[in-house]
Amino acid sequence: MHQYENVMNELRGRASEGDRSVMKSVELKSLFEEIKLMPADKKAAFGKAMNDFRQELESLLGEEKQEDNRPPIDVTAPWDVNTSYASRPQVTTSLEGSIHPLTAEIDRIIDIFARMGFYVLESRQIDNDYNMFEVLNFPEGHPARDDYDTFMTEEGLVAPAHTSTMQNRILSQNKHLLDEGQPIAFVVPGRVFRNEDLDATHEHTFHQVEGLYVSKGVHAGMLVATLKTYIKEYFAEDLQVKLQPFYFPFTEPSFEMAVERPEILRRDDSEEQRWLELVGCGMINPNVLKMAGIDPNVYTGFAWGFGVERMVMMRNSIEDIRHFNSGKLEFLRQFK
Ligand code: DAH
Repeated sequence: MHQYENVMNELRGRASEGDRSVMKSVELKSLFEEIKLMPADKKAAFGKAMNDFRQELESLLGEEKQEDNRPPIDVTAPWDVNTSYASRPQVTTSLEGSIHPLTAEIDRIIDIFARMGFYVLESRQIDNDYNMFEVLNFPEGHPARDDYDTFMTEEGLVAPAHTSTMQNRILSQNKHLLDEGQPIAFVVPGRVFRNEDLDATHEHTFHQVEGLYVSKGVHAGMLVATLKTYIKEYFAEDLQVKLQPFYFPFTEPSFEMAVERPEILRRDDSEEQRWLELVGCGMINPNVLKMAGIDPNVYTGFAWGFGVERMVMMRNSIEDIRHFNSGKLEFLRQFK
């Protein structure tokens, strides 16, 4: 008998995997042919053994078939889809869900700028050194590069640390607008990344909204007016703003715009607590215009960049930036 064990085991294996073709296989057939060739005294026992074996295969297949009858599983569902509604775990259904507060706020912000006549273009989440630094007037080795704590791959790709990475692209791709007598006016929302030590006001991943405006005769007064209009609209309140000098390689002059904190958000009456620096901005450096093929003797422009989370935290009195990505429902539900 054992000279047949190998082939029998193979057939058992196939049957237990549910392969129905074993019942009609040449191997099984030839096992039955063997019966005829058996010496008379062994014929009966071998025949019985083969019939038992056939039944064994049938039952292996039968078990498999039962498994096949089990309801299919949706591996993406948080519970077995075939359980009754009553016994499902209580999780949030899509009807109870809501738009993430950051998504909703970014929509609000770009809606304000869109109404002011700005086009909207999202920034990239993977970029290169050229757009992160080079075309923004940070030559290689420029010390200000270090201010940006930029994540980079060994191949030199960059997780952008600011939305300014889109400046050169927007300027060079839209300069035909200037020839047609129209301004280049864009806002750029996007996700940015920095190698930060995390605390209540610092995250490694956050969002910015960049703005760019280029035309003939653009001056710093227009920058201030644009940002003031936006801030008044966003906070729905006529907050005091002040402009203080700052340094960015891609603007000249450069400023920081600080907004007066509403009194309830101040920890004490110090001058420091009174102002919150919210926006980096300035007049676009002539080198940045030149690198995009725009003549800085004919055209001038302003630009800004601000962190969305900070702005949203101030408007909604949120005390910790880490809430945004925490996935905590009690936080998210407040914005429903
Ligand atoms: N990119 C700057 C930052 O992330 C913010 C900024 C400042 C953007 C001035 C601008 C600008 O466009 O003109 O710190």
